[in-house]
Amino acid sequence: IPVSPFDLVIFGATGDLARRKILPGLFLRFKSGQMPEKARIIGSARSDFDSAEFRKVIGAAIEEFLDEEHRPAEAVTAFLDRLEYVHIDAMGDTGWSDLKAILRDDVIRTFYLSVSPSLFGAIAERLSKHRVATPEARIVVEKPFGHDLASAKALNADLLRYFMEEQIYRIDHYLGKETVQNLMALRFANSLFEPLWNATHIDHVQITVAESLGVGGRGGYYDQSGAMRDMVQNHLMQLLCLTAMEPPSKFAPNSVRDEKVKVIEALDPVAPEDIVRGQYRAGRDEPSYFEDAENPDSRTESFVAMKLKIANWRWAGTPFYLRTGKRLRDRVSEITVVFRDPPHMIFPNPMEGRKGNALIIRLQPDEGITLRTTIKEPGPGGMRLTEVDMDMTFADALGSDLHAQDAYERLIMDVIRGDQTLFMRGDEVEAAWGWADPLIAGWQESGKRPVPYDVGSSGPEEALMLLHRDGRRWRPIGD
Ligand code: BG6
Repeated sequence: IPVSPFDLVIFGATGDLARRKILPGLFLRFKSGQMPEKARIIGSARSDFDSAEFRKVIGAAIEEFLDEEHRPAEAVTAFLDRLEYVHIDAMGDTGWSDLKAILRDDVIRTFYLSVSPSLFGAIAERLSKHRVATPEARIVVEKPFGHDLASAKALNADLLRYFMEEQIYRIDHYLGKETVQNLMALRFANSLFEPLWNATHIDHVQITVAESLGVGGRGGYYDQSGAMRDMVQNHLMQLLCLTAMEPPSKFAPNSVRDEKVKVIEALDPVAPEDIVRGQYRAGRDEPSYFEDAENPDSRTESFVAMKLKIANWRWAGTPFYLRTGKRLRDRVSEITVVFRDPPHMIFPNPMEGRKGNALIIRLQPDEGITLRTTIKEPGPGGMRLTEVDMDMTFADALGSDLHAQDAYERLIMDVIRGDQTLFMRGDEVEAAWGWADPLIAGWQESGKRPVPYDVGSSGPEEALMLLHRDGRRWRPIGD
């Protein structure tokens, strides 16, 4: 779908996210000819820059964050020409009339708040008060969208005072990842999987988002947050919803989001013995969580694993196991759907160590899908069974010139197109906090410390036990 001309105003335009993701992403879109001629990007931040200085900062960011082959000099220069800068005091009244003066009436007006959530309300108010926002304008906000249900409600109320829900785009960048969207294509554009997609045929589901890096550099933020708030309430919850939701009647923003909310609402309360919280120890060369967080007494978890039950007709009896953590063996995100065994085995020699049929959806790295299948072991020796992986990476299947778009690139273009499907609705965010809050409160009250785990491991032993005690096993993290 073509993109209409736009004025995209980025607040916090010289901040980390803008330099690392937003502007390089926009540049890649520009380079591939997907930015209309009349499109402009207007940066705004606290620094008293002019447009030339801003272009210099963004030119340097593109150089820093994109490989040389992806940033030909002429394209960078032409892109930088599309940038302007307006110095605005987000908490005061200076600069707003300058911004109003340069915005055009006949293009899509979008405001991207790449700033601390504590500024969302103030900026929304000023956009309205100074009549910079029009009824058709769009506003984009980033996580963390609240710290708990009460703060998320307050943020929603702040935004809804000046904007309609249809104008608000809450980003969860996991929804912009290619394979996350492929999950919907896989489920709803094939007739092969959906008839089996229920508790009758699926034994359990595993969702793993493992990272190998620690929290060094952003320990201050992370220590106030932890894996539950930083990853589970948003990214893993989104993956869970897309895996478990009922088929929407159409691929339209509210149809999809209605179904996602229903999954969160159907989650059973989680028993304390179904959750494991961990914290990484120091490695040979790597600092411990305490050192990274600069808090020797921290009780914040850098790892969490849990068993969830979805109390509805489709999933009763099929647990979903979630885990995420820092400083683990590898950087791997995947969803493993493990099917039940056939009801009756006709073969005389049961396969030792059989894991069973599974569909593995890899989000990163090597985006693709694997279907674990049982076959006859080739050669003599009678009917012996073995398991093989039918493996497909999207890059191999679709050709190496496939440009792997960054999540931000896609999501920003969806904002301009006015498509909210891949953005979180206010009630969805609140439902996810409503689910997470009692769990966090429970362990705060218990005063229990997270259990330590080794750098480069799969997390604490207790997380392995979470499945072992149910007679199941996690899929290994990495090779
Ligand atoms: C962010 C979290 O939202 O997602 C980070 O705040 C985490 O802690 C990151 O590292 C993971 O994103 P990705 O795209 O690298 O998997």
